[in-house]
Amino acid sequence: MGARMMSGHTDLHEQLEEELADFVGKEAAYLLNFGYQGILSTIDTLVGKDDVIVYDVDAHACIIDGVRLHLGKRFTYKHNDVESLEKNLQRATKVAEQKGGGILVISEGVFGMRGEQGKLKEIAALKSKYSFRFLVDDAHGFGTLGKNGRGAGEEQGVQDDIDVYFATFAKSMASTGAFIAADKEIVDYLRYNMRSQMFAKSLQMQLVKGALKRLDMIRTRPEFKDKLWVNVHALQGGLKAQGFDIGTTQSCVTPVYLKGSIPEAMALVKDLREKYGVFCSIVVYPVIPKGLILLRLIPTATHTLEDVEITLNAFSDIREKLENGTYKRISELMMAGVS
Ligand SMILES: Cc1ncc(COP(=O)(O)O)c(C=O)c1O
Repeated sequence: MGARMMSGHTDLHEQLEEELADFVGKEAAYLLNFGYQGILSTIDTLVGKDDVIVYDVDAHACIIDGVRLHLGKRFTYKHNDVESLEKNLQRATKVAEQKGGGILVISEGVFGMRGEQGKLKEIAALKSKYSFRFLVDDAHGFGTLGKNGRGAGEEQGVQDDIDVYFATFAKSMASTGAFIAADKEIVDYLRYNMRSQMFAKSLQMQLVKGALKRLDMIRTRPEFKDKLWVNVHALQGGLKAQGFDIGTTQSCVTPVYLKGSIPEAMALVKDLREKYGVFCSIVVYPVIPKGLILLRLIPTATHTLEDVEITLNAFSDIREKLENGTYKRISELMMAGVS
């Protein structure tokens, strides 16, 4: 089987592209075989050496890697800080004017660690003062946010101001693969210039078929999104009522901040998984400051309120164990090789 540029893709790939474009309200869409490589390569393709990238400092690794390939200037702005973005847009505008290039601003729709939404509305408003194109990675917003599940742009009423919209199938669609949606002219350009797609195989057929079905479910079965939010509100409300710090999340991503060391976090998450049946990812230094533990919970539409109850009780227990030194002792034993 040759690369996509040589052997192409199928009618079903094209059907999925059309349905995705229609769903997110863009002229065209382009399927990507992986989210990470896809957006990395999109960034690489969209900019040339005279262009300037301005992006949120907390951007996902795939965005950072895409920016790393850029041969021209790039500026970061402080996380979700519109004032800092504006300062950097002024710097970027000077460079772009000198070089005759353009500016690409990149934000996430939802920042996946802390769950807060990117300030898409405020960023889009800056288009009246500065000339730039806006790329949004809406990995966590697609399917979960907005009246129709069209994502953070729909939620904030600025979907039309997003020039290049990216989402992966890895979150609300529980699969792999991804897509880019934009004006036809941009998508056509990406189709024939994006290295990670032209020189690799197209999205596997079973994933294409699966994505068509999942997209159909997002479109026609709103009860799943409603159920997701019932679970999100129950979990986030319950955690807050128990005095947990869940930061400023505005999505189903539910971070729980605790104080403790990395070995304590390891013992805690193992206990949560093996004793309480609750799986969650942990984030520690250097992603967040030393001494902090971030436990990231992501409820889904298939969880039940009983699952939420079990999770809340488990969290109450593990906090007590963390505070009374249980995990410190277990981690010391683990490190001494006693299991
Ligand atoms: C914001 C964001 N962008 C891109 C990706 C990469 O997507 P994929 O896992 O489909 O390669 C992720 C995955 O976690 C993500 O969170």
